[in-house]
Amino acid sequence: MLKTGFHTAVPKKAAVLAIFSGKKAKLGNKAAELDKKTGGAIAAAIKAAKSFDGKCCQSLVLSGIKNSGADQIIVLGTEAKDKEKLCPMKIEESGATLVKALKAAKLEEAAVLTDAPDGIDVAEFAAHLAYGAVLQDYTFGIYKKKKDAPKKLKALDIVLANAAEAKKLFAPLEKIAAGGFLTRDLVSEPPNVLYPESFAARAKKELTPLGIKVQILTDKQMEKMGMGALMSVGKGSARPPRMVIMQYDGAPKSASAAAKKPVAFVGKGITFDTGGISLKPGPGMEDMKWDMAGAGVVTGLMKALAGRKAKLNAVGIIALAENMPSDRASRPSDVVTSLSGQTVEILNTDAEGRLVLADALWHVQEKFKPKTVIDLATLTGAIIIALGNEYAGVFSNDEELSARLVETGAELKEKTWHMPMCKAWDKAIDSDIADMKNIGGDRGAGSATAAAFLARFIKDGTSWAHLDIAGMAWSKKERLTVPKGATAFGVRLLDRLVAKHYESK
Ligand code: BES
Ligand code: ZN
Ligand code: ZN
Repeated sequence: MLKTGFHTAVPKKAAVLAIFSGKKAKLGNKAAELDKKTGGAIAAAIKAAKSFDGKCCQSLVLSGIKNSGADQIIVLGTEAKDKEKLCPMKIEESGATLVKALKAAKLEEAAVLTDAPDGIDVAEFAAHLAYGAVLQDYTFGIYKKKKDAPKKLKALDIVLANAAEAKKLFAPLEKIAAGGFLTRDLVSEPPNVLYPESFAARAKKELTPLGIKVQILTDKQMEKMGMGALMSVGKGSARPPRMVIMQYDGAPKSASAAAKKPVAFVGKGITFDTGGISLKPGPGMEDMKWDMAGAGVVTGLMKALAGRKAKLNAVGIIALAENMPSDRASRPSDVVTSLSGQTVEILNTDAEGRLVLADALWHVQEKFKPKTVIDLATLTGAIIIALGNEYAGVFSNDEELSARLVETGAELKEKTWHMPMCKAWDKAIDSDIADMKNIGGDRGAGSATAAAFLARFIKDGTSWAHLDIAGMAWSKKERLTVPKGATAFGVRLLDRLVAKHYESK
């Protein structure tokens, strides 16, 4: 991760200084001081630059400014659009802009003379600036062995009077970033490297040092326990399924019994989804390496929560399997018995996510009696038809929980949209020969019938939400704080949801 430091003065002779400017070279205190030393050369250069008018997420590189003490000066815009105050998300984008500008100019480090725009706390500004820089700097480069391996910055030194406060504000943000990076790494790994066993081992290795209890259920154990739904998905593959149970106990000892009840996060972890015997078409099948994104998010979220010492008890469960066609694979028309005892007629082996989730959802409720269960899954192509790559779908039996998810998502630009659930979609999965079938009829609403299926594995009284993140887990577009590829969508969202609604004071 990019090394960021907060200092009260520029730590050493910095070759590159970053400063802030609004419209018409309206400089903050620190920038103005520097400008004075240069006899106004900085302000003059900013005014002369046609491409820079001080808007947030603009940058300008100045070279050869005499008496500035630096070889290069990077000017960052601070004006929010439409007279709005700069929100933390925008400030993060500004930090990301700085990193992009540095990389474009082939520079490796910089000191930032921090001036916050009027009305914004400078320590908060500095912390979010650093967070945005860290997020932009992420790359998944481990398989690039030649010289086109992506370059990373060496360090960013952020200078402000109240460095200690900025450091304190940044500490939890850095932990959330680290959680998100674990998610991005897991989701980016190729499926020959990341399969149920190796995923489970990786989760254990990453989380145990943080004080998280990690239990791995093997295929043999799950078979014995009666997880027939999950097992039916994994049995076509030479790589056997796993379930990982991650327990983080962060609630204070003094918390009430109700406050100690855990919040559970459940993730779909299909390490590769070929569709099974209901084989997917070849073109685009490579995308199905990220069919474990739900599990990746749950794992990264646990790392974030434990890292920042969140004050709650949380359980993460990931259901890991590889969906392959073979002589041992499930056939369309097979009937299996889930852990809950309910039977499922498998009419399409490509609707496998709901099968692995059914057993994970049931197990977490039986074992941990959580007050709330939130599952994440790249569950249906249909959610991409409905919401594209802009919103995850939220299906829930709890209006308050879904409203909170929508509200928190809007704050963080991890947007979610509340989708409907109704009896008709539940009826649509009734089977002629078993308790239910794993696909709806032919009347559309594929994401809703999938949610109706999951709902049959939620006990009365459990507050539950299902996030269908099929459109959000992977991005072909670059955003300033979310590079192309694995997005880790859901880590920030659920971390904030926890902070707002589930932590002890
Ligand atoms: N993993 C897919 C859903 C998916 C599609 C995720 C595209 C990300 C991008 C899921 O297992 C699946 O194949 N669902 C089927 C369900 C259908 C058979 C009822 C689908 O959406 O087509
Ligand atoms: Zn599938
Ligand atoms: Zn799938």
